[in-house]
Amino acid sequence: MNKKNILIIGSGGREHALATFLSKNKTIDKIYTAPGNAGTPGNISYNAGNTKDFETLADFAQAKEISLTVVGPEIPLCNGIVDVFDARGLSIFGPSQKAAFVTEGDKASARNFMRNYGIPQPDFEVFNNLILAKDYLNSLPEQRIVVKASGLAAGKGVYVCENLNEAVKAAEEIMEQRIFGSSGNKIVIEDCMDGEEASILAVCDGQRAVYLASSQDHKRVFDGDKGLNTGGMGAYAPAPVVIDELLKNVDDNIVKKTLEGMADEGMPYKGCLYVGLMIKDGEPKVVEYNCRFGDPEIQAVLALLKTDLYELLKASADGNLDQIQVENYDKAACCVVLASDGYPGKYETGKIISGLDKADKMDNTYVFHAGTEKEGSGKTITAGGRVMNVVGIGDTIKDAIKTAYKGTEAIDFDNKYLRNDIGYRALKKR
Ligand code: GLY
Repeated sequence: MNKKNILIIGSGGREHALATFLSKNKTIDKIYTAPGNAGTPGNISYNAGNTKDFETLADFAQAKEISLTVVGPEIPLCNGIVDVFDARGLSIFGPSQKAAFVTEGDKASARNFMRNYGIPQPDFEVFNNLILAKDYLNSLPEQRIVVKASGLAAGKGVYVCENLNEAVKAAEEIMEQRIFGSSGNKIVIEDCMDGEEASILAVCDGQRAVYLASSQDHKRVFDGDKGLNTGGMGAYAPAPVVIDELLKNVDDNIVKKTLEGMADEGMPYKGCLYVGLMIKDGEPKVVEYNCRFGDPEIQAVLALLKTDLYELLKASADGNLDQIQVENYDKAACCVVLASDGYPGKYETGKIISGLDKADKMDNTYVFHAGTEKEGSGKTITAGGRVMNVVGIGDTIKDAIKTAYKGTEAIDFDNKYLRNDIGYRALKKR
């Protein structure tokens, strides 16, 4: 058997989950992760902020005869890692720099793209001048409204404002106080949509898309969807709100139109197109595109995937997804994020994590590291806001939730924080 080596870029729960499910393919020999965390295999050093490191990673991929590099986070994608690998004939999963910029790197470009291709979305305006933005806000009737930094802001650049006063303050924080630096050169002001959210992960090969299980994220930090936005405190899959008819609507009116538009504009889209939806009365509108798998959605979604993950990602990179049929287990999965208390604000790190062995041995449970590292004595310690993910699988969403929460009880560290209601919407629907 011709053994293969894999390189994964990133350091979170998403990347640990990718490594875990890729390793199920028996033709895979070694998996390397750059830079990885305390749970990922074959960690190598890599500075995500230094684009020169892309050449070093490409040298590594060449030297280790890497069959496929899989890019987890948006920053290396938006900085052009795929273009560097493509230029050297190295197989890589993810969109080009241009495609990543238009979908996720610049929210204004994404909204304008959707407008040009008739993709359903809320009404919006783009401003690169604070005075004009405030004039616009002051001209509107009182309402809830969304203000977004146009550039990348690690999931923190979206303000869902309860009134126009809050929206003016949001615009000032972004454009005057520059809390996201140059990512706040432009803002997008858009109608606040109501309905139910869902995440669609479309794996694309430039021309066509196949779909992983639908999922739902829990972005707010506190139970009942209260408090600040986070990168995601938990997720479950599949999302009952995404019925077959809705997925067909998304395929016809959002994903196919996106792929056609991207190809027409000379940036055929490969990799994962994450479509964040707001669904009201059965009609979906796009909340956002992301140019990579959702974290923590993918941790739950991969737990349901029957199709070989390597074959799927390789077909995306090689442009032959017509050869792939995505199959899922007829089960449900729930991912609960264990965070450091204080996240997404200030939090402490360096806390010793216990109970990992016990949790790892639990039935129908996966444990993924996110913000962790090894200290000198070899103990695993906390090193980030989102620390660990526990995924439970069950015949029903209720069972999956129960299993995930049982797993979370086995793991402990000082200042451990978690939401206690992951999956509550799916439970209400039963
Ligand atoms: N969980 C939301 C995201 O990955 O953007």
